[in-house]
Amino acid sequence: MNNEEFRQYGHDVVDWLAAYLKDIRQYPVLPAMQPGDLADRLPAHAPDFGEPMDAILEDFQRSIVPALTHWNHPRFFAYFAISASEPGILAEMLAAGLNVNGMLWKSCPALTELEQVTLGWLRQWMGLPEEFFGIIYDTASVSTLHAIAAAREMADPETRTRGNSGGLVMYTSEHAHSSVEKAGIMLGIGQDNIRKIPVDQAFRMRVDVLRETIAADQRAGKRPFCIIPTVGTTSTSSIDPVDAIADVAEECGAWLHVDAAYGGVAAVVPELQSILNGASRAHSLVVNPHKWLFTPFDLSAFYTRKPEILRQAFALVPEYLRTAEDPRAVNYMDYGVQLGRRFRALKLWFIMRHYGREGIAELVRAHIGYAQRLAALIREHPDFELSAPTPFSLICFRYRGSDDENRALLEAVNSSGKAFLSHTVLNGKFVLRLAIGNMATQWEDVEETWNLVRQAAKRT
Ligand SMILES: Cc1ncc(COP(=O)(O)O)c(C=O)c1O
Repeated sequence: MNNEEFRQYGHDVVDWLAAYLKDIRQYPVLPAMQPGDLADRLPAHAPDFGEPMDAILEDFQRSIVPALTHWNHPRFFAYFAISASEPGILAEMLAAGLNVNGMLWKSCPALTELEQVTLGWLRQWMGLPEEFFGIIYDTASVSTLHAIAAAREMADPETRTRGNSGGLVMYTSEHAHSSVEKAGIMLGIGQDNIRKIPVDQAFRMRVDVLRETIAADQRAGKRPFCIIPTVGTTSTSSIDPVDAIADVAEECGAWLHVDAAYGGVAAVVPELQSILNGASRAHSLVVNPHKWLFTPFDLSAFYTRKPEILRQAFALVPEYLRTAEDPRAVNYMDYGVQLGRRFRALKLWFIMRHYGREGIAELVRAHIGYAQRLAALIREHPDFELSAPTPFSLICFRYRGSDDENRALLEAVNSSGKAFLSHTVLNGKFVLRLAIGNMATQWEDVEETWNLVRQAAKRT
């Protein structure tokens, strides 16, 4: 592609994206299609000879767009709703064009230093202590994997050379994200050594049971090495009592990793900073700007007060990557699995500067406000009930009917293409989840979706 063509198609793509974001409400949130529909329509083999860009862009619109689930849609309320904000999209375009690799400080100083600066800013916004070292991974799942690897390094530094010795046990709640257990499996801790502590009525980890379980494990000769509470659990957004759990971690010498992947961003709002109470005592914490900080997927921010342990767990420098030692030249490849690293900090920088803390706080406050308003409507309605508290912007509720009726209701709403909700199971019952987090969402979107739910309930 010559430079002039690149310029032309670049303009076309930006024009398309601008129209897409402006007209997003005209798209069905979920595509009306069956598994395999798109794959069957596309050629079975890649072309031997290059095709014109016009044809590729036309096929993008004709075939790919109708098969999209529109995560940028203001009525996307499933899982945790997210947004690719415009400043973030622009930065992603620049990052793709620059194509730099931040494995070493030297391989791209701007990438490394901007990552340090933006994560420092975000740390300040969340009220976390200055000694927290920040690093960007792709997802919270990978951040948590690194946390547990560092925890194992602290508990048993020989693991690196000898392999797992056994006896290490980790603790999380029965409502923790599956990434915690997956990481335990991957690191060879073993599912038998992952304790899922029961929760109280508000779905928070029970500290009394945590303490008893740890004591029983210690009596059996096991070594508690890692405790992982969650601030904003996936099913209900409950907040584990991190401060009390930090006491337990200190008593038994375990690494404390806080999974604040979803909820942590709320701490950017000054009056909500208490949601991270106790987190400053953690060894590590993860928060996902790609969840509620309007950052295009993907960007997970990982913080640790023990970077030297994380480094011990992962550093392995072949001669061809050796560079001069300089305390200010961080080589991020030493702090994780990946060698090559994308320029993710650029989008965070654009977003933090474009909106400022107040701009972000205003959006988060609005989302929480809508959630409270909807929760109040559900509470008053005779045919519906709230299934969990609403500390953030996720509402868990159900129709006062059978699980099958709730399933049918969800299917009716989602197949309308007008909104997308997801579900969970709480206390054995099928529950609807409506998560507000897209920056374009207005109260009318929430209200209309609530109307849809009520109409669907009448028909079930
Ligand atoms: C509490 C929590 N932790 C971790 C994750 C995993 O996030 P990621 O997709 O970034 O791996 C999620 C995803 O929803 C989550 O809700």
